[in-house]
Amino acid sequence: MPTPGSAIGVFDSGIGGLTVVRELTRAMPSESLVYLGDTARVPYGNKSRETVQKFSTENTLFLLHHDVKLIVIACHTATSFASSFLEKHFRHPILGVIEPGVETAMRLTRTGRVGVIGTHATIGSKAYRHAFARHHSKIKVTPVACPLFVPIVEEGWVDDPVALTIAQKYLKPLLDDKVDTVILGCTHYPLLKSTIAKVMGPRVQLIDSAQQVALKARETLRKMDLSAPRGHKPVRRFFVTDEPKHFDRLARRFLGQRPGNVSRVDVTR
Ligand code: DGL
Repeated sequence: MPTPGSAIGVFDSGIGGLTVVRELTRAMPSESLVYLGDTARVPYGNKSRETVQKFSTENTLFLLHHDVKLIVIACHTATSFASSFLEKHFRHPILGVIEPGVETAMRLTRTGRVGVIGTHATIGSKAYRHAFARHHSKIKVTPVACPLFVPIVEEGWVDDPVALTIAQKYLKPLLDDKVDTVILGCTHYPLLKSTIAKVMGPRVQLIDSAQQVALKARETLRKMDLSAPRGHKPVRRFFVTDEPKHFDRLARRFLGQRPGNVSRVDVTR
């Protein structure tokens, strides 16, 4: 049975979810975390709904073995395809990255025109459209898949002219539709924020889903009376499903520091 001292469980298809860990740590420095990056099966962004649901179920079971008090799906593709599936099959509190971004966009947009960018899977799933519709929102959504952004970030080319050229091409429909708000609907995109801002111009606000889900997680724990007690010494553990070397090397860019303490696990057993 989870207690206030239990960890928050976080999973992602690989490394990008560390942008969420970074924000969770900022918002709740005393909370312990267990992070699972499914590096053996990344990327999820071009896989089918069934496959992503299967992987997400295995990831959730792994985190539940660590007696986590809350599960954060730190992956937009897994949230798009599997969040309602997981909520149906597990009684545990589960937070995805889509809803908090949608709520913030609804609050911030002045013109009612919002752009959403993400992987092919996230955009194809229409999860964002459905989330706006659940709020009976009249907002006009312009969704655009930007699949090359993930490898650009992992190559470390965020400030390279190649990133700007690709961003100009991908983001043109958002400029054409005159959106005033863009939701960064993929774990990797916060690292491309300055390039995206350069293309969209100063009047367009960018919503970082990682920050929004961290605030939502803090509120959820407070409501459940499960926030870590004052003075609690946090423990952060990182697990990956492939060998940790590559993860460890790239992690600093996403997390702002070396994770340390990374172990390999097999979540299929
Ligand atoms: N984590 C994924 C997402 O946020 C991006 C990487 C992948 O395709 O697995 O959609």
